[in-house]
Amino acid sequence: MRVLCFGSLNIDYTYSVPHFVQPGETLSCTELRLFGGGKGLNQSVALARAGLNVSLAGAVGEDGRFLLSELGRAGVDTRHVDVLPGVRTGHAIIQNNAEGENCILVFGGANHCTGREQIDRVLGFFGEGDVLTLQNEIRELEYLIRSAKARGMTIAFTPAPMNAAVPLLPLELIDYLFLNEVEAGVLLGRRAEDAPLDAARALRERFGVKNVALTLGAAGSVFSGETGDYTQAALPTEPVDTTGAGDTFAGFFLAGALQGLDTQRAMYVASAAASIAITRSGASASIPDRDEVLEKIYRNG
Ligand code: RIB
Repeated sequence: MRVLCFGSLNIDYTYSVPHFVQPGETLSCTELRLFGGGKGLNQSVALARAGLNVSLAGAVGEDGRFLLSELGRAGVDTRHVDVLPGVRTGHAIIQNNAEGENCILVFGGANHCTGREQIDRVLGFFGEGDVLTLQNEIRELEYLIRSAKARGMTIAFTPAPMNAAVPLLPLELIDYLFLNEVEAGVLLGRRAEDAPLDAARALRERFGVKNVALTLGAAGSVFSGETGDYTQAALPTEPVDTTGAGDTFAGFFLAGALQGLDTQRAMYVASAAASIAITRSGASASIPDRDEVLEKIYRNG
């Protein structure tokens, strides 16, 4: 089994701020740091650090070559990332406030250059029994989903950033849907956080998705799928920067499920991984490896 993550690579400009900037306000930040980010890059790193062989496909400009080096050090195969001349790498402007929360503004750049030629070329290396993970920061998702399913691939999808195109995708072809309570609320047209397990079940029924994992921040996570319904509390922690927590959860949960962990255990491992990631700055830089996660679980009892 091979895992292909077809998704975004961003340069994350993370600004530490006392509070999120308000309309009309000019605010001085206390620190600026650059990190490797993008939901595709983050999830591929999480999958690799969880112990899977993973390839990332996508695109950067010349200014994003350093992301490929970072990915290489994390053990991610980047042969399918195109380096495009004359195009800027995608980037994100991230405000990180004193409570560890974030506001993210994304510029697509090279991520929006994904086309059918690249998709056909890359999917040619994958087939029956392989796994595809997707997020909503690249183009041609419907084509990707249909092409991968026609090849017999298992598909995981994180519909973030949420937009009006998501409900129109062939979600019935998705095996694992990862989303937070806000995204679930948009898809369902009602609040999801009041009864999250009901929301996860409703998403399965309405869209025909096989398995739905819903993350709820400090309130933990729920899962509804082929193995049943589950809830998992968040592990107590002091958040520094929550950027990439959802990507960490998705990567570790999917890795656990693919490695044969039972669902409750996969949720626990994913929660532990996310609880470590939010104690440090950055998206991909904050993602722990499997040994660190197992150590945390051991200490948590
Ligand atoms: O999910 C976190 C990611 O969202 C950040 O790394 C940023 O690049 C945006 O894509």
